[in-house]
Amino acid sequence: MFVFSEAAESRIEKILAKYPFKKSAMLPLLTLAQEQEGYVTPEAMIEIGKRLGASPAYVESVCTFYTMYFTKPVGKYVIKFCINISCHLNGCDNLMDYTTNKLGIQVGETTADKKFTILREECLAACSEAPVMQVNNKYYVALTPEKVDQVLAALK
Ligand code: FES
Repeated sequence: MFVFSEAAESRIEKILAKYPFKKSAMLPLLTLAQEQEGYVTPEAMIEIGKRLGASPAYVESVCTFYTMYFTKPVGKYVIKFCINISCHLNGCDNLMDYTTNKLGIQVGETTADKKFTILREECLAACSEAPVMQVNNKYYVALTPEKVDQVLAALK
């Protein structure tokens, strides 16, 4: 069973008041659930479905469509490397390999200390400054191995 925190409950009340159709509040509720647990648990999907009049399968289909939602635990810092054309042409594969080697994990994995997860991402919409990575909600552009080192050192 998933229970939203008291703080989340008061936000949910305000969110639901904004939408004429309950299901329209799906993304904000998924975001709240992820903020609370670090990822969207199956129990949270059931709870959100109950509140919005949607089946758990429907909630899951929305949740898994968006790469910003996680359906399993991730590290404190989620590093997403853009792998689309501009970043690809500007060396994202080498930078991703550099970072996975440095952290000792593969893409899709989390370090043993639960600090870093590395993921591939489609276009992050900063193509003119490729290669690009996103760490949680922050962008790092015109990446080099030295910049990756600086970012990781600042987060450790
Ligand atoms: S291709 Fe990487 S940000 Fe668009």
